[in-house]
Amino acid sequence: MIAKSTIESVFESSRVEEVIGDFVQLKKSGSNYKGLSPFTEERTPSFMVSPAKQIWKDFSSGKGGTVVTFLMEHEHFTYPEAIKYLAKKYNIEVEETQKTSEQKLEDSERESMYLITEYAKDYFQNNLMKSEEGKSIGLSYFKEREFSEDVIEKFKLGYSFNKSNNFSEEALKKGYKLNFLEKTGLTIVKDDKNIDRFKGRVMFPILSMSGRVLGFGGRILKSSKNIAKYINSPESIIYYKSKVLYGIFQAKQTIVKEDNCFLVEGYTDVIKLHQKGIKNVVASSGTALTENQIRLVSRLTKNITVLFDGDSAGSRATLRGIDIILEQDMNVRICNLPEGEDPDSFANSKQTEELEIFFKENSKDFIKYKASVLVDEAENDPVKKAAVVRNMVESISKITDQIKKEIYIKECSSIMGISEQVLYSTLAQIQKKSFKKDVKQSKQNFDSFSIVKSENSNRETNILYELEKKIIEILLLYGNNIENFEDEIEKEDENGRLILSPIIRRVKVFEKIYMDLHEDEMEFSNDNFRRIYYKIIECYNENKEISNDKILNTLPKELEIEITNILMNDEKYMLHDWERNSIFPKAKNTSISQLVIETILNLRCFLIDKKLNEFKDKTSDNIDNKLVLEDVVNYSSLKTRLSKKLNRVI
Ligand code: CTP
Ligand code: MN
Repeated sequence: MIAKSTIESVFESSRVEEVIGDFVQLKKSGSNYKGLSPFTEERTPSFMVSPAKQIWKDFSSGKGGTVVTFLMEHEHFTYPEAIKYLAKKYNIEVEETQKTSEQKLEDSERESMYLITEYAKDYFQNNLMKSEEGKSIGLSYFKEREFSEDVIEKFKLGYSFNKSNNFSEEALKKGYKLNFLEKTGLTIVKDDKNIDRFKGRVMFPILSMSGRVLGFGGRILKSSKNIAKYINSPESIIYYKSKVLYGIFQAKQTIVKEDNCFLVEGYTDVIKLHQKGIKNVVASSGTALTENQIRLVSRLTKNITVLFDGDSAGSRATLRGIDIILEQDMNVRICNLPEGEDPDSFANSKQTEELEIFFKENSKDFIKYKASVLVDEAENDPVKKAAVVRNMVESISKITDQIKKEIYIKECSSIMGISEQVLYSTLAQIQKKSFKKDVKQSKQNFDSFSIVKSENSNRETNILYELEKKIIEILLLYGNNIENFEDEIEKEDENGRLILSPIIRRVKVFEKIYMDLHEDEMEFSNDNFRRIYYKIIECYNENKEISNDKILNTLPKELEIEITNILMNDEKYMLHDWERNSIFPKAKNTSISQLVIETILNLRCFLIDKKLNEFKDKTSDNIDNKLVLEDVVNYSSLKTRLSKKLNRVI
């Protein structure tokens, strides 16, 4: 885990406008910055960054939050990745906590290995572009394959000299340790000799989602039966084959924008399609697809289109791949290429539009796909046909979404001419079998069913949620304002009797709210609001600035968006340029005290109503209980009093 102190100094040093400025062109607009939304295609800017509040808000997609949220949304970083990115940008040393010395050692090993792979990538790139051998052998090979300079640069392609230890010697001279050169697999140590693994090959660096070099693929230039066409870095603590997708770094933005990801088999397929304008492409690099790889994609989109080489269609591995995608609750379509073509060769003579149309017209859902590859051979053979149907239903059984399941059963029924009833019972059989395996998962499904609530209580929760949110909003926006609040104190009149007499108190808004809620022993029902509430009160009490990012930082994403909305509300008016249209929003702080009192009273009334309803239920159950009745009377009169007050302030 990253140390709290590191996270804090990252937040302290990061300027949201600087960080976002690296990705979005921002223009000053009043005290804020404006730009075109990086999440949608738009012509008029609706993306706002507030340097004062250190938050951002995209009014066209509804996204918003802190500098870290931006990196998570835009770059698809995980939280730690975002923190590390910022730490690097602002030269902050990342301190890790709760690590055993073993873990620390592994971390520093990992870092040392990353330094080497990064160096190697640069070295190979330099060979390719600057050296005579690189240009005449490597670069000309890529040119022959019709790779543009643009993709050669984008995919950081390189060349490894055809001498046995050129790279290793250079790296050692630069001070990189042999131990780590060996661990990354770039150097093979044999009988006291250091040999370059990738000697005489063109190099394809394999990058992580965030752009770090994990390993390499190297292709031999001449075809030879004795030597493998491609060799790859061995697995290591920085390179797990099953967790990597080739091209994900270059594809991630487009995958999100297109809400679809093309999956191909090879390095060259990714690169050529990218060059042809289909940029949402990744490759499993020849290995069988894994769950982890699909999970990488599912952070970006729920839709995958598999592009299979013409000759691998229907193979066992491809069919298994489909099931793995379905198991991750992703939608999968399959597109077959003509016999003998892979995506690279197929794309060669084509324009972007041609490709797009082909992929669109030839993509099938998995039922149609399975029907198309399996049915031919089973046409007149009932036994084989039964196997095909069973195969389809097996795939359907992987889907957890009930509605989708039903849709596919219907489709399977109509294509294969088998009644839905039979398919459902087959499905039940298959699920029964796998039930034991998935007890855990089924239990989860069951639990989520049991949480379904009645509509009525939903409505109640919503009102309560809105009222609690309103209080947070007031606290965030006006907590430190000093306002006049009407109050009542007990006084003696001239006859010595106690009467209630109105006085005006000038207090801070947060104090007023705190005192009132405290007096009524009111607690927030929403856990997150309760957390924020105490945090805010603590900040104000200690006379500290409310630091928005420290509060936002701890929230789940939906709430972070809500709070950002609250804080960005002022900017919204500006964005719409009300002034220019001579429309002035009602000045927000004309009567903050009124707003405060009204909100608290509404909350009280709501809670009392709720209590009264609970009592009604009890009495209607024929529980003859004097105490309950007494409570009802008390609460009712309190309610009348409150309503009167509410009327007065409204
Ligand atoms: N592959 C590999 N090792 C091999 C063969 C293939 O790692 N010996 C991986 C590579 O990632 C390759 C992918 O499997 O890109 C697909 O293999 P293949 O279709 O044979 O290669 P292509 O990508 O078509 O390569 P090329 O066009 O350069 O021949
Ligand atoms: Mn090929």
